Amino acid sequence: MLRVSVWRGGAEGTLVAYDVPARASQTVLDVVTYIQRRLDPTLAYRFACRVGMCGSCAMTVNGIARWTCRTHVDRVAKSGALEVKPLANLPVIKDLAVDMTEFFDKWARARGRFVPSADIPDDFIRVPPATPARRAADAGIECIGCGVCYASCDIVAWNKDYLGPAALNRAWTLVNDVRDAGNAERLGAVAGDAGCHACHSHQNCALRCPKEIDPTGAIAGLKRATARAALRGKL
Ligand code: SF4
Ligand code: SF4
Ligand code: FES
Repeated sequence: MLRVSVWRGGAEGTLVAYDVPARASQTVLDVVTYIQRRLDPTLAYRFACRVGMCGSCAMTVNGIARWTCRTHVDRVAKSGALEVKPLANLPVIKDLAVDMTEFFDKWARARGRFVPSADIPDDFIRVPPATPARRAADAGIECIGCGVCYASCDIVAWNKDYLGPAALNRAWTLVNDVRDAGNAERLGAVAGDAGCHACHSHQNCALRCPKEIDPTGAIAGLKRATARAALRGKL
C-alpha cells in the first residue's frame, strides 16, 4: 500500500493523506486517478494523452516538478511515501490544477508564433537537416508546453514578469527557423529586463525538462543574438 499526501485547496490548502494499492509499473498519474475515481471524486487535476505528448499532467512530486503520466512511482517514492502538489510558480485553481494563462501569455509576449515571409513560395521550403540553424531549431521544437521548467526556475519565482525558460526556448527555436520573418520584433521582445538577460544559467530547467530540451542553451543563444543585434543598432 502507498501512503499518498495530496494537496487539497487553492493557494491556501492542506495535504490530505490517502492509501492507494501499490501496483507494478504504476505511474504517479495512475495514483492520482485512483484517488479521484475510487476515494474522492472532488479531487481536481488535469491530464489528457497519458503518453507524454500533451504536457497537461505536470505536478510537483515529492518536491520536484515532473510529468506524472511518465513518472513511475518506483522511481520517485522509494520509501513508499508520495507527496503530490500542484506545479510551483503558477496560481492554483483547485487541488492539483494550476492556471497556465500567464505561462502561455509569455509565449505570446516572446513572439513565440511563426511569422510567414511576405513572398510565400509555391513549393515547400526545404531546410537541410545538417545546417547549424536547423539543428538549433530541432533541439527545441519538441517542447510539449508542460510547464515543468517554468515551475523549476528560481528567477520566475522572484520575478513574475520574467518570460521563463519555455517561452524563451520557443523564441530561440523560431530565431533559428530560416522560413520565419519575425526575428526583428522577436529579438526586441526577448531582450528586455524580463527576457533572456535575466536568466542566471543555473540550469534547473534543463535538468528537469522531461523532453530533455535545454532551455538554458537556448537562452544563451538569445543572449548572443540580442547582443549582436544591439551592436548592429538593430534593437
Ligand atoms: S537556466 Fe535560466 S531559465 Fe533555466 S531555470 Fe535557471 S534561471 Fe530559469
Ligand atoms: S521546455 Fe521542457 S519542461 Fe519546459 S515546457 Fe517544454 S517540454 Fe516542458
Ligand atoms: S497526460 Fe499528456 S503528457 Fe502526461
